[in-house]
Amino acid sequence: MASPAPTDAAGGLPVTYERHGRIGVITVDHPPVNAVSQGVRGGLVAALDEGLADLAAEALLLVCAGRTFMAGADIREFGKAPAPPTLPEVVAWLDAAGKPVTAAIHGTALGGGLEIALACHFRVALPGARLGLPEVKLGLLPGAGGTQRLPRLVGPEKALDMILSGDPVGAEEALAIGLVDAVEDADTPLEAGLRAAERLLDRRRLAGRDVLVPVSARSGRITGTDPALFARRRAELAAKTPHLFSPHRIVDAVEAAVTLPFADGTARERALFLECMASPQRAGLIHAFFAEREVAKVPGLPTEAPLRTIGRTAVVGAGTMGTGIAMCFANAGLPVLLQDSSTDALARATATIRRNYETTARKGRLTMEQVEGRMALIRPTPSLDDVAGADLVVEAAFESMDVKRAVFRSLDAICKPGAILATNTSTLDIDAIAQATTRPDDVLGLHFFSPAQVMRLLEVVRGAGTSDTVLATAMALARKIGKVGVAVGNCHGFVGNRILHQRGCEAMALVGEGASPQQVDRVLTEFGFPLGHFAMTDLAGLDVGWRIRQERRKAGDPEAEAPDWLDVLAERGRHGQKTGAGVYRYEAGSRVPLPDPEVDSVIAEDRRRRGITPRIVADEDVRERCLYVMVNEAAKILDEGVAARPVDIDAIWLHGYGFPSWRGGLLFWAGQEGLRRIAAAVERHARRTGSPRWQPSPRLLRWAEAGSIPG
Ligand code: CAA
Repeated sequence: MASPAPTDAAGGLPVTYERHGRIGVITVDHPPVNAVSQGVRGGLVAALDEGLADLAAEALLLVCAGRTFMAGADIREFGKAPAPPTLPEVVAWLDAAGKPVTAAIHGTALGGGLEIALACHFRVALPGARLGLPEVKLGLLPGAGGTQRLPRLVGPEKALDMILSGDPVGAEEALAIGLVDAVEDADTPLEAGLRAAERLLDRRRLAGRDVLVPVSARSGRITGTDPALFARRRAELAAKTPHLFSPHRIVDAVEAAVTLPFADGTARERALFLECMASPQRAGLIHAFFAEREVAKVPGLPTEAPLRTIGRTAVVGAGTMGTGIAMCFANAGLPVLLQDSSTDALARATATIRRNYETTARKGRLTMEQVEGRMALIRPTPSLDDVAGADLVVEAAFESMDVKRAVFRSLDAICKPGAILATNTSTLDIDAIAQATTRPDDVLGLHFFSPAQVMRLLEVVRGAGTSDTVLATAMALARKIGKVGVAVGNCHGFVGNRILHQRGCEAMALVGEGASPQQVDRVLTEFGFPLGHFAMTDLAGLDVGWRIRQERRKAGDPEAEAPDWLDVLAERGRHGQKTGAGVYRYEAGSRVPLPDPEVDSVIAEDRRRRGITPRIVADEDVRERCLYVMVNEAAKILDEGVAARPVDIDAIWLHGYGFPSWRGGLLFWAGQEGLRRIAAAVERHARRTGSPRWQPSPRLLRWAEAGSIPG
């Protein structure tokens, strides 16, 4: 096959060929993750040609340098014109190689990287390796033979599990299911691969014939498939992920592996892959992938900012948030002191943590040894003095400025110099809290989202005094504990809750006019949110918002709303799911929200009191008003510099509020929805209501004029 010059964008040689004895070694070296870029593809073909032409090479070995095997196609090339050789061409070239090719896998073999390995004759994995086809997470399907070869190796059922979930399997499981032929403990993939390739040649000599046939020529376990398998999977998808495009095409492609010969199945896979590639969901999911990584790079924060060491952590307050935050640290192997003056609260927290871990263990995701290891990292204490030696203290006390300032005054007196003092407040002024200390440069907000041990978002709130070192350390810590840390500025509600608040006001206004909470929630779940606004309020607890509103009214905040029907429900003890009743009612032990006539009458009474005659509200009005008001608020947040970039807002809503990932994030979606249309609607609602909520953001108007959102 003719191949272009095998250089990458940096002009280096991403793929090299070198012979070790009778084995020709092809090495991919394309940091950071050996993504299969055009340079790598061209290099692979050129190196393969060289190996096939090398008369002294009886077998070939494919290995990767650096931290991982090839982690997939180069995602940055998607959406551009395909540049030859394509991945399917590289795979076909390997498949047809006249010499046995072994792939030695370390790190992660993902997507196109695994498809390349699948086209080799033999796969050996190092013990820590992970192998998977995560294309579904990018709105795609494996488009270089993965849906045809994987079922031939592991059977269609397991192949569907892997391709539909996108989750990788470890080396041992890969061996057990037949995805790899051997697991080889060695210092380097080269060492493991050379040993395996030598053994293969010996086996061939002993057998006196070729012992290997490419996967494409095998039928393996592909016969005898349960005929109901595909119908069952389609029904599951329709119930679980009705919005998603690519999973249905994945089922079609794997079915083709069972019903069609290899070449026809591969052609079908290609056609389905191209459909996925053209779908807006692919663009949204890829934006979401890069957004998660982009937010780690904080504009204006010097990359060389020194970091403090976080060895010992402490959490003050053993309520729901404090308990979850303590688990986040323990999950990352960090010792954590969980402090609360109430020994009852500590006992409850410890029991909750154990119960959570044991449930995870029952699902097979932790061993009991790991459960005990994590429990041993969490030390409950009633004494605040015990936190004196912590490198980081996260305060998760009651959401009241007086309480928080008192805690910070004490922490200032107790904690060692250089300790980072963080508050988990979701709404209060970080600077006012920092001013209770003599070291505002060490203070910042670490706003976890409930349940803290599950939700990936961490808003890292920079106060006026927070130093670069403290911010950089917090961002690094976020990554260490598996969170998506997004740096934001200090304002009421920061970024996520500030936008949520506007959506909430609009949702309340719609209900005031005649919509029902169920209608609002249905429109939002049809849009793709996992929960509607009011079901989410029930999950968070009505008492939380009620308490915040009371604080604001007490503080004389002119923007604090008058008491409404939500306050009435909270006063009646309907605090949401946890009390079995909120905006909805819940049957014992169930999380399914059910409409409740008591709530309908509270809403009706509220409308009567305000002199409103309810009207029929169109679903389109609900969609437009709930979502466009968020976009307008997001633009204002950028106007004020509270968030640095549109991508920060996208990541916040994706990881903290269940914004549908296939829509890419709030502002990515806004770009697709049409900025002119959104701005025109915002202006119309501003004229209609005169409300500051709808006052158009100058930035939104600029975006509308330009037709796109820069950066
Ligand atoms: N293409 C381009 N860049 C990639 C990439 C890819 N496939 N995978 C990772 N990167 C980049 C990241 O954007 C990041 O860049 P910056 O440093 O500039 O931000 C860098 O590589 C390091 O990535 P991470 O920060 O994610 O590093 P990690 O060690 O935490 O994780 C990883 C490594 C597990 C490989 C993770 O990056 C990952 O899951 N990558 C995506 C893998 C994937 O989805 N592959 C399938 C692609 S689709 C395909 O292959 C099928 C096809 O036929 C088209």
